[in-house]
Amino acid sequence: MCGIIGYTGKLEAQNVLIDGLSRLEYRGYDSAGIAYFRENIAHISIRKTAGKVKDLRSVCDKVNPSTCGIGHTRWATHGGVSTTNAHPHRVGQVALIHNGIIENYAAITEKFNLGDELQSETDTEVGAALLNHFYSQDHDPKSAIRKAVAEIKGSFAFGILFEDRPGEIYAVRNVSPMVAAYDPEIGAFIASDVTAFIEHTNRYFVVPEYAVVALSPNGIEVEDLKGQKLTPEFMTVDWDLTAAEKDGYPHFMLKEIHEQPAAITQTITPRIADGLPDFSQDGVSDAFFEGVRDVTIIACGTAMYAGMVGAEFIQNHLGLPVTVSIASEFRYARPVIDKDSMVIVVSQSGETIDTLEALRLAKKYTDRTLSIVNVKASSIARESHYVVYTHAGPEIAVASTKAYTVQVATMFLLGFKLGLASGRLTEDEARDRVAALKAMPAHMEEVLAYENQVKELTSRMINAHDAFYIGRGLDYRVAMEGALKLKEISYIHAEAYAAGELKHGTISLIEKGVPVIAIANQQPVYEKMISNIREVKARDAFVILISKDKAVHDPSICNVHLSIPDVPDDFTVFETAVLCQLIGYYTSVGKGLDPDQPRNLAKSVTVE
Ligand code: G6P
Repeated sequence: MCGIIGYTGKLEAQNVLIDGLSRLEYRGYDSAGIAYFRENIAHISIRKTAGKVKDLRSVCDKVNPSTCGIGHTRWATHGGVSTTNAHPHRVGQVALIHNGIIENYAAITEKFNLGDELQSETDTEVGAALLNHFYSQDHDPKSAIRKAVAEIKGSFAFGILFEDRPGEIYAVRNVSPMVAAYDPEIGAFIASDVTAFIEHTNRYFVVPEYAVVALSPNGIEVEDLKGQKLTPEFMTVDWDLTAAEKDGYPHFMLKEIHEQPAAITQTITPRIADGLPDFSQDGVSDAFFEGVRDVTIIACGTAMYAGMVGAEFIQNHLGLPVTVSIASEFRYARPVIDKDSMVIVVSQSGETIDTLEALRLAKKYTDRTLSIVNVKASSIARESHYVVYTHAGPEIAVASTKAYTVQVATMFLLGFKLGLASGRLTEDEARDRVAALKAMPAHMEEVLAYENQVKELTSRMINAHDAFYIGRGLDYRVAMEGALKLKEISYIHAEAYAAGELKHGTISLIEKGVPVIAIANQQPVYEKMISNIREVKARDAFVILISKDKAVHDPSICNVHLSIPDVPDDFTVFETAVLCQLIGYYTSVGKGLDPDQPRNLAKSVTVE
């Protein structure tokens, strides 16, 4: 939620900031702005506008020699989408960018009598006024920051300019993510994530919470709130700029859909030894899997739907009770877990605030928390007892695709391991399943070849108001993700239904032409599923059938048949997911929408 960047060094800051913001836009795209030292003197200029980063370019100077500035792309929380509410916010000597929420902004306004200084409806401007209040006392940036954060309740990643300190940027964070980097040839950066500056440097560190960071062209100083120097732990990004670019694809989403086979191979290969699941490279000992009585999977959004698939798979195969909890519900409910419970936390970004807080709560009950995370060294990865990183590379499109399938693949492997540890799966059975999983990337490639067929059929979907995804068992769990993909990027109301449940209500919504994506890949319930499909077809639904049948020509079953490669039932989820992603993508494109930046959404949700 909201992307921030700061740069000071040898390059022209405006270019660095705007290029960085365009790569952070997945975090929010309601408005954008930059603040910089004009002509590198003690004078802050601000350019900002409602709209996207491309709109910001048009309100900026053509030539701008400034080499120090901060930039922001916003996902509105407090106050509507307007240029006044756009960041940076300026009060007195201070210009501030902020990702997060100052929860006690009203109390701060009253306590320090800041009301007259505010022009916007944002909590951030209160933060700027508070910093200015303290800075006016002794003109000491670090002391002003220390005093301000002592007053603020909530989450924040702040980037700050003080007008009489050209060339310097200050930063501090709590909960909201922030990384920093320095290259003596280029300069110093802060940003919400490394994609913002990956073009310039691949060495970075995660800014510790409540550390005061001072950036200058000569380096970065980090100290704790008591003024003790901290030595940052530098890391190297294992991907380069091309991974964060479209690489010839019209959208990031389509590129990421196509990257899935490789992403799965990269993710599972290091966790397979001698044909069996092995998490020793992740530092997860066999003991971790032993004596587990139940499993709770916690996540939000697509990661939660990946959890649904994992749960169904583990529960059905191992007979272990598995619960999936929506993170925002888990954290305010009474957890029914203890030391024998394994908690699996799933998050692409590793920063989703509800998931992070749910993890913190779960840790009060059990020492067996394991996260499945894509972004290295993110908060959830650092705070869980164990982390299994997915190796999907950066996922930029707001609608998650490759992160989902690598999460599912990782959960399958964890399931095999749990099965072995509990004696519920023999070595031979585990080996067979690992082999089936290893074969999935090739089958997903086969499914990707149906792209044009899917594109064609979505012409029947673009005018729909509603769509239904139906299935039984694992197919129903994938259907949930399929429905989410369609609704989030095409704005068509879409619902997933357990096919057997249709006749208890939802079938009343089926009328002529309503698209129904019917998934029939679970052989034990195949005939039942076909009967359910006939029920909607009899009511004139436009049925797209996804099944392992070679061909279905029966018009009483479907209008379009997408035949997927024949793999064991459980593993069809990977093929089905690809088709559902393509259906969502091409429906969005067919409607003339931007699938990468759907309205009102953001990729990284760091507010509750
Ligand atoms: C947002 C994104 C989704 C994502 C969800 C959870 O809603 O738009 O794509 O699935 O957050 O994010 P996480 O990073 O925790 O997987």
